[in-house]
Amino acid sequence: LTVRQLSWCLCLLLSEWYSDLDECETAEICPAFSYCFNTNGSYICDCWEGYHGNGTHCEDMNECMMRNFFCPNNSTCANVEGSYQCPCDPGFSANNSLCLDVDECDLGLVQCPNISDCINTVGSFFCECWEGYQWNNSICEDIDECLENSTCPEHSTCINTNGSYVCLCDLGFSSMDDLCVDIDECNVTELGPLCANGTCINVAGSYYCECIQGFWSNVTECVDVDECADSLNSSVCQPNSTCINVPGSYYCPCDSGFTLDGAQCKDVDECADPSGTPCPEHSMSALSGQRSSAN
Ligand SMILES: *[C@@H]1O[C@H](CO)[C@@H](O)[C@H](O)[C@H]1NC(C)=O
Ligand SMILES: *[C@@H]1O[C@H](CO)[C@@H](O)[C@H](O)[C@H]1NC(C)=O
Ligand SMILES: *[C@@H]1O[C@H](CO)[C@@H](O)[C@H](O)[C@H]1NC(C)=O
Ligand SMILES: *[C@@H]1O[C@H](CO)[C@@H](O)[C@H](O)[C@H]1NC(C)=O
Ligand SMILES: *[C@@H]1O[C@H](CO)[C@@H](O)[C@H](O)[C@H]1NC(C)=O
Ligand SMILES: *[C@@H]1O[C@H](CO)[C@@H](O)[C@H](O)[C@H]1NC(C)=O
Ligand SMILES: *[C@@H]1O[C@H](CO)[C@@H](O)[C@H](O)[C@H]1NC(C)=O
Ligand SMILES: *[C@@H]1O[C@H](CO)[C@@H](O)[C@H](O)[C@H]1NC(C)=O
Ligand SMILES: *[C@@H]1O[C@H](CO)[C@@H](O)[C@H](O)[C@H]1NC(C)=O
Ligand SMILES: *[C@@H]1O[C@H](CO)[C@@H](O)[C@H](O)[C@H]1NC(C)=O
Ligand SMILES: *[C@@H]1O[C@H](CO)[C@@H](O)[C@H](O)[C@H]1NC(C)=O
Ligand SMILES: *[C@@H]1O[C@H](CO)[C@@H](O)[C@H](O)[C@H]1NC(C)=O
Repeated sequence: LTVRQLSWCLCLLLSEWYSDLDECETAEICPAFSYCFNTNGSYICDCWEGYHGNGTHCEDMNECMMRNFFCPNNSTCANVEGSYQCPCDPGFSANNSLCLDVDECDLGLVQCPNISDCINTVGSFFCECWEGYQWNNSICEDIDECLENSTCPEHSTCINTNGSYVCLCDLGFSSMDDLCVDIDECNVTELGPLCANGTCINVAGSYYCECIQGFWSNVTECVDVDECADSLNSSVCQPNSTCINVPGSYYCPCDSGFTLDGAQCKDVDECADPSGTPCPEHSMSALSGQRSSAN
């Protein structure tokens, strides 16, 4: 023991016996960030709240790391010297020691692109394109529904529009319950009876005529066959007759001076007519119907 140590020891003993010495009066007897408590014969150093002693020093306590904190929902613990704070998370704002959602849409804090709605969520927001539009490069652009071939039913044409589309039934089909169904043209009263002189046959998207004899089908109608049209080339009619076309048929009346005898046109022997004598006296009847007189 040195003399100095001894005298300090003695002093302690004496002060213990006689009157307590207030060690806290002595400056810096306790470390920084601590309170000094005087006791009988001694003193106690107690770290401030938010600080903890490591044996010789009082140092900041990281409440956040030590999980020794209370923060409201949707805030994050942030350590500060001697304490901690609870700043609200992004998208939340402090209100009565709570962190409440910020309605970015309502407050006009954000701008959504054209053709979209701003939708607030807890802590955030998003922009939702209107129906029929899709997000692309931070704009809302029309969806071409027609690129998807299942958009429109069979037998229809898809037409894309802004935000939507329409399905136009093909000719000969009509819209019914989101489908394009074949129109039975043969049984549509507005079209009237089709295929006069024949039978109407319905097919998908259309119809055609099957015609009775004497008519030919140009698909939509039964057209009269002109049997006489080629009578000059082939013998439609018997010799010495004229072909006359009628709807659905034709007939071959014998030329004048001829008469029908079975299937043939026979020359009329006018001279043999007993009802009168076409020839004057002393003339002769010739074979031809035209040569009827002679002087
Ligand atoms: C200190 O000791 C004295 C005498 O023994 C006593 O009267 C006093 O109450 C004590 N003080 C404390 C703070 O204990
Ligand atoms: C206490 O902290 C101080 C300052 O950070 C440091 O210098 C000292 O060595 C520490 N003591 C112990 C026992 O860790
Ligand atoms: C904080 O969040 C928890 C879990 O989501 C919930 O049970 C609790 O009620 C919330 N506290 C407050 C004050 O909103
Ligand atoms: C905080 O906000 C989120 C939404 O961002 C929510 O899901 C959650 O329940 C809220 N509360 C807590 C305790 O995280
Ligand atoms: C705090 O919240 C209440 C209830 O939601 C609301 O009426 C009030 O305006 C808010 N105050 C602030 C400063 O946002
Ligand atoms: C948004 O719409 C407005 C009004 O229709 C138009 O003036 C503006 O140019 C549009 N902005 C964009 C980015 O298309
Ligand atoms: C997005 O837009 C770009 C050009 O603006 C275009 O080339 C691309 O096809 C679009 N993407 C979709 C999925 O439509
Ligand atoms: C769509 O296209 C695929 C392939 O080209 C084809 O097999 C399918 O039948 C089509 N569907 C319709 C409804 O047209
Ligand atoms: C024609 O239409 C009527 C009613 O429009 C229907 O009752 C009938 O069955 C149809 N006939 C045929 C052959 O489709
Ligand atoms: C052809 O149709 C018309 C109109 O329906 C009718 O008047 C005519 O008798 C028909 N002709 C034949 C040969 O069936
Ligand atoms: C069929 O003939 C009718 C009457 O000549 C005509 O109006 C119609 O266009 C023709 N149809 C076709 C497919 O040629
Ligand atoms: C009657 O028919 C025959 C045979 O085709 C022909 O040679 C003759 O010239 C015809 N006569 C008349 C008057 O047309």
